[in-house]
Amino acid sequence: MCSVRPVDYDGDLADLEASLSEKDVLRLQSCRAAVVDDDAYILVAERDGRVIGVGVVHVAARDDMGWGPDSETPSFMDETSAYLESIEVSAEMRNRGIGTALLHEVENEAQRRGKAYIRLHTDGQKVDAHRFYERNGWLYEKTVHPSWKQGRATRVYVKRL
Ligand SMILES: CC(C)(COP(=O)(O)OP(=O)(O)OC[C@H]1O[C@@H](n2cnc3c(N)ncnc32)[C@H](O)[C@@H]1OP(=O)(O)O)[C@@H](O)C(=O)NCCC(=O)NCCS
Repeated sequence: MCSVRPVDYDGDLADLEASLSEKDVLRLQSCRAAVVDDDAYILVAERDGRVIGVGVVHVAARDDMGWGPDSETPSFMDETSAYLESIEVSAEMRNRGIGTALLHEVENEAQRRGKAYIRLHTDGQKVDAHRFYERNGWLYEKTVHPSWKQGRATRVYVKRL
């Protein structure tokens, strides 16, 4: 069905550009130093030699990731908690279990790195995403209104690893 592996920044770029927005590709590039320093990891789902999904996870807060002015987000990537910044599957490949496979590897890797929890933000309106996380054992923790979301209702989910 699909395999999940760490990103190869140079080798995967063409596939990532084909399936992600320009903004998301730029964000991936801006995480490169954090990945090299092992403060973040990026996993991709590959099928038939093509990258069709990506998950970006932070395991340590860094000043160059632009988390401010939200003071809470960095606390989601402390000694005990990893932070899933984003997970996305190419639109035409959704609803085939690829997101679930990617999410499980994201969680396993956080556990391997000694984390007890993994957290994420998701839009308060994205009911499909809420169902996706809840079906995979994540718990709704609270709703916040961060400035980087222009104050929109945003859910925090957490999973005990
Ligand atoms: C959220 C997201 C990553 C899920 O990825 P996905 O590959 O579609 O996830 P899955 O296929 O594992 O699960 C999705 C649904 O397909 C169903 N499904 C899983 N395997 C299936 C299969 N083999 N056949 C048919 N349906 C299947 C699941 O039961 C699930 O159903 P649900 O909608 O009732 O919950 C994807 O929809 C996405 O990229 N969305 C846009 C970005 C986004 O919203 N990211 C998360 C918010 S931060």
